[in-house]
Amino acid sequence: MKSFVCYAFNGQTVPEILQTEIQRLGGVISYDQAPDDVPVLLFKDGALSLTPGSAQGQPLVLDYQDKYSTFRQRASKDKGPLAKAIGLDKKRDLMVVDGMLGTASDSLLMLSWGVHIQAFERVTEIYLLNWYSFQNFKKYNSSLNFSIHHADIRNSNVTGDVLYLDPMYPQTRNKRLSKKEMQFFNQLAGKDQDEKEVFDWAFSQEFKRVVIKRPPKAEIYLKPTHSFESKSVRYDMYSFKPL
Ligand SMILES: C[S@@+](CC[C@H](N)C(=O)[O-])C[C@H]1O[C@@H](n2cnc3c(N)ncnc32)[C@H](O)[C@@H]1O
Repeated sequence: MKSFVCYAFNGQTVPEILQTEIQRLGGVISYDQAPDDVPVLLFKDGALSLTPGSAQGQPLVLDYQDKYSTFRQRASKDKGPLAKAIGLDKKRDLMVVDGMLGTASDSLLMLSWGVHIQAFERVTEIYLLNWYSFQNFKKYNSSLNFSIHHADIRNSNVTGDVLYLDPMYPQTRNKRLSKKEMQFFNQLAGKDQDEKEVFDWAFSQEFKRVVIKRPPKAEIYLKPTHSFESKSVRYDMYSFKPL
């Protein structure tokens, strides 16, 4: 397990539940001043954030409740290409496995449509950022079928109707992830250079559908059953069985 450091600002006390999770993940808490040239986890005033390091911008804090409420308010009849790609029009109680959680925007969007979600994130710092927000979120949304896991999706035995993959892509690609978030993520997660191995693994599993999010002009890896597009994004959908 890769070791990492979570800094406590000005010696502030890190809640016990967070201390326990940091230790479980092989991390340590430091009361030294956090470095400012690399992104690090920082606990300050009750919030866990990822500092920008040498990139510009504010520390990144995930707020699941805020994102989810915004998506719920926006939920309209026409849910766009992602809803079509996962087959929301074909089955109501879909179980989607989000193999690449990131900042959880896509998971929370699908959750706001009533989809059940199991999500996976392999970068420990990104997972922890999600985990901390998830703890609060689940207190108020305990009836939702939503779980997050720290693992490479390929090392899980997870099953579901649809596997959803959204690999990192060089800069400027994803309009919904701001440039600020992308910079942090590129530094921490790299560019998912093994994405093709992950796609091959995905196609060998028992999912009824695999959906891969791509920039509109990205090369097609394997001819999809159908692509659902908007101006800024393309969802390549591979159908293996009816939903
Ligand atoms: C572009 S981001 C996903 C963005 C996400 N859809 C969102 O709405 O925020 C890709 C994320 O997937 C993670 N990732 C990449 N390959 C993975 C794998 N094989 N297993 C688990 N996580 C993976 C990366 O660490 C990164 O955080």
